[in-house]
Amino acid sequence: MQTVTQTPPKDKNEARLELGEVAFDIRNLDLYYGNFHALKSITVQIPARQVTAFIGPSGCGKSTLLRCFNRMNDLIEDVRITGEIHMAGREIHGPDVDVVRLRTEVGMVFQHPNPFPMSIYDNVAYGLRCQGVKSRQTLDAVVESSLKKAALWEEAKDILDRNALKLSGGQQQRLCIARAIALEPQVILMDEPTSALDPIATMKIEELMNDLKKDYTIVIVTHSMQQAARISDRTAFFLLGEVIEFDDTVTMFNKPSDARTESYITGRFG
Ligand SMILES: Nc1ncnc2c1ncn2[C@@H]1O[C@H](COP(=O)(O)OP(=O)(O)O)[C@@H](O)[C@H]1O
Ligand SMILES: [Mg+2]
Repeated sequence: MQTVTQTPPKDKNEARLELGEVAFDIRNLDLYYGNFHALKSITVQIPARQVTAFIGPSGCGKSTLLRCFNRMNDLIEDVRITGEIHMAGREIHGPDVDVVRLRTEVGMVFQHPNPFPMSIYDNVAYGLRCQGVKSRQTLDAVVESSLKKAALWEEAKDILDRNALKLSGGQQQRLCIARAIALEPQVILMDEPTSALDPIATMKIEELMNDLKKDYTIVIVTHSMQQAARISDRTAFFLLGEVIEFDDTVTMFNKPSDARTESYITGRFG
């Protein structure tokens, strides 16, 4: 008897990262801005489909490491990186890596929500249209599912044509998350995504992260230790360009192994 094998979609030849796997395997990573040594010999493994939080005082390299994961630092002049970052078995600085593709697989959300000055619908559809998708049916379906995953559908479904800049800050941030989700990323990087939001909008984003980690790997930079404790599975504590400690969040906050971590989380500096 003949068996029918389904051909996987052509542009989806990379398997999804699963729970229990490593999303980013970072080995001896050093980063210099000119002569300034901003990241020092970082070796950590970011788990897939979990929330990993980066904490530490301002200026210690959290955003810099986050930007390494989708090679956003390539856009900054005079940056030099040594060491390795493997994602799903592939070194992301390798010659065969398509950086545009990497940035769709590794989406990013910033501190200040930055929707494009266009409709809610067009914001979410933007990335797919850039990839050449024209079918209204496909776009409608992706816009709806992405807004649902970003917990914005109920608020947005009747105003899809409205300019995104008219939304509240918290809604704009969820729209930015929907825009990233529309490209089916593996990873969503979030750099202080709630620091410009009020407590209720913050709570909504925190709840959303808890849902999203079922499908995506999330790495969040936060200046709030309470937020890290509430939402993350693992926490990395940074100080002066080094990762001092990286552990289960519960362990980190209850029984840190390094005296500097303990000083920071008990509020003695930072
Ligand atoms: N584009 C840049 N050029 C030069 N130095 C930078 C640049 N971006 C960040 N830095 C420096 O690198 C260090 C780490 O910055 P950053 O990663 O933004 O820290 P954090 O996110 O922990 O506050 C800081 O000393 C900062 O001044
Ligand atoms: Mg930062």
